[in-house]
Amino acid sequence: MVETSDKWIFERTGIRQRHIVDKGVAASHLAVEAANKALRERGISGSEVEAIFLATVTPDMMFPATACLVQDRLGAKGAWGYDISAACSGFVYALQTGTKFVESGVHKKVLVIGSDVMSSIIDYTDRATCVIFGDGAGAVVIEPATDDNYLIDFLHEVDGSGGCSLNMPAGGSLNPSTHETVDKKMHYVHQDGQAVFKYAVRKMAEASDTLLKRNGFSAKDVALFVPHQANKRIICSSAERLGLRDDQVIINIDEYGNTTAGTIPLALDSARQQGRLKKGDLVLLAAVGAGFTVGATLLRWAC
Ligand SMILES: CC(C)(COP(=O)(O)OP(=O)(O)OC[C@H]1O[C@@H](n2cnc3c(N)ncnc32)[C@H](O)[C@@H]1OP(=O)(O)O)[C@@H](O)C(=O)NCCC(=O)NCCS
Repeated sequence: MVETSDKWIFERTGIRQRHIVDKGVAASHLAVEAANKALRERGISGSEVEAIFLATVTPDMMFPATACLVQDRLGAKGAWGYDISAACSGFVYALQTGTKFVESGVHKKVLVIGSDVMSSIIDYTDRATCVIFGDGAGAVVIEPATDDNYLIDFLHEVDGSGGCSLNMPAGGSLNPSTHETVDKKMHYVHQDGQAVFKYAVRKMAEASDTLLKRNGFSAKDVALFVPHQANKRIICSSAERLGLRDDQVIINIDEYGNTTAGTIPLALDSARQQGRLKKGDLVLLAAVGAGFTVGATLLRWAC
């Protein structure tokens, strides 16, 4: 489709493959599948879910929220929820939202989902973006802590001056859909790759470092660093700045590409499957995304 090579893609991004949905499959479908898997593992039925926070930049529609479509299909009668738009930081932001409702005692079973069908907004004639993004979703269930394993702290930051570096210009109230917006390819992802790259490396490390230090930890205490999977070079540079060894970092971008809100829960799943997450492990999540949005979370793995 574009002038590129497997060699270029792998060397510059670390990506070997991406997954693209079939026609008619939307973010809600991936979200329901991920949510059902997570609920099954915990032995929880959909009807027990009290709230759903769903991170996505590719909702099925502008409204209703994809969280509502998911609630219905899960049979989560009585649950409430909404979508969170924070691009690649969406999952960590949704995780905090869900956690706060559990910590405050308001809810006991909350679903947090990251789901994106990036193929629906990618221009497959733009080699700078089409080789990076893929479709994917992941979900976690948040329940009250029964021991010392809990979400320790988080650090979130947005810098709206970076909005021009990564966006989808049309389809919202500023540029409603017209023939012209379609002709000008304004419904696709537009990205200044280098600007995003530089910001991501700096902020992912900075936010993680601040979070560790203010909680009295250093890099050697981290059992697993779970970074947003945007580019292997961004992950490795951030890890190096933090002083982390390779065995402390989970990388699965080779398998999925950048699935936006899906990357961190997918990476957690890869880590579990590889036996790299044990009860009590100190886990550091970090993401940078369009906005710019920055998020880092420090937690002790609970199961
Ligand atoms: C997009 C990205 C992979 C490009 O890699 P890069 O090393 O920065 O590449 P550059 O943009 O400097 O381009 C270098 C050259 O490769 C070319 N190139 C870009 N994409 C290419 C592709 N898929 N195949 C072959 N060549 C490509 C460019 O045209 C440029 O050619 P030129 O030197 O003749 O002008 C990289 O900038 C990146 O990952 N940025 C962050 C993206 C991101 O994380 N987005 C999500 C935010 S969470």
